[in-house]
Amino acid sequence: MTREGDVVRAAACEFARAFEARLGSGRLRYQEPLAPYVNWRVGGPAEWFFIARTRTDLIVAVRTAREAAMPVTILGYGANVLVSDTGVAGLVILNRTEGMEVRGEEIWAESGMNLVTLARRACEAEIGGFEFLMGIPGTLGGAIVGNAGTREEWIGERVLEVEALDERNEVLLWSRAQLDFGYRRSRFQRTSEVVLAARLKGYRASRASIEAKMQRMLEARTHQPSGPSAGSVFKNPPGDYAGRLIEACGLKGYRLGGALISEQHANFILNTGGATAREIRALIQLAKAAVRERFGILLEEEVRFLGVWDS
Ligand code: EPU
Repeated sequence: MTREGDVVRAAACEFARAFEARLGSGRLRYQEPLAPYVNWRVGGPAEWFFIARTRTDLIVAVRTAREAAMPVTILGYGANVLVSDTGVAGLVILNRTEGMEVRGEEIWAESGMNLVTLARRACEAEIGGFEFLMGIPGTLGGAIVGNAGTREEWIGERVLEVEALDERNEVLLWSRAQLDFGYRRSRFQRTSEVVLAARLKGYRASRASIEAKMQRMLEARTHQPSGPSAGSVFKNPPGDYAGRLIEACGLKGYRLGGALISEQHANFILNTGGATAREIRALIQLAKAAVRERFGILLEEEVRFLGVWDS
């Protein structure tokens, strides 16, 4: 036993004690496998893992980890992340805060809210403007961070304001103008703020017209590959499509172990069974290098990499 090892263990005990005192015993897990929580179904464990059910859970968990100088990662539905095979250090919080309220044409929802549930509830309340969320796997918080959407519509357009926990653990309210929304971009990609909730605005529409649009959105997705993936791996570069460029490099159907560049859509990488994060990452790098070599275009990843990577 090294002295350094003792210090690390004591700090871990101290963190776990403080955490349980604030959030209840038996809720903090150690070395929890993350693969079941992410769409790609790959990756190693979270050092520490906690499921936040309420806004208070989320705020207190983040604060407690930060006080222990521990890195914090928030996971929604793991729809757009690749977890490394060695896992993620620090505390991973699975965000399942699902409060929601409808006020006229506005919706207030917590960041762990499922996007499809949000679209369905908006439909029940005859609020249009959220149909495009059908078929997008994910939570509201994740959608806001990545300004998720289709090619025509994205969540940022519907946001009036976002409540977030800043780096000093203060709760702030940001208006849309302060959120720096762009194509698959928001301020939250360059800060360590945690999205807590958002106020969204739609418009009055009949239930029948909303349902018809929801149906069209689902049908539009049938050309996308099914199976464990993270949707589009890369953002589309200006004026072109990542899928078209990767296909033109002859990479459709290229396989590394269990990871496959989809035959159906080249910007999707599938886990066909037993893939490792390393294999998926290698395919991402291969596609990126091929497109750069052939077209001189540097593709930018839409997926986020969690954990430690050696390249
Ligand atoms: N294409 C190819 N080869 C391929 C794939 C696509 O040539 O292998 C061509 C298609 O023929 C089409 C063009 O590329 O002309 C665009 O393809 P698609 O309609 O499939 O849309 P996309 O640009 O690849 C974007 C979003 C999707 C969203 C769809 C529909 C990005 C990075 N992706 O895909 O979002 O569902 O539009 O609105 O902007 C996601 O972000 O994870 C995602 C799935």
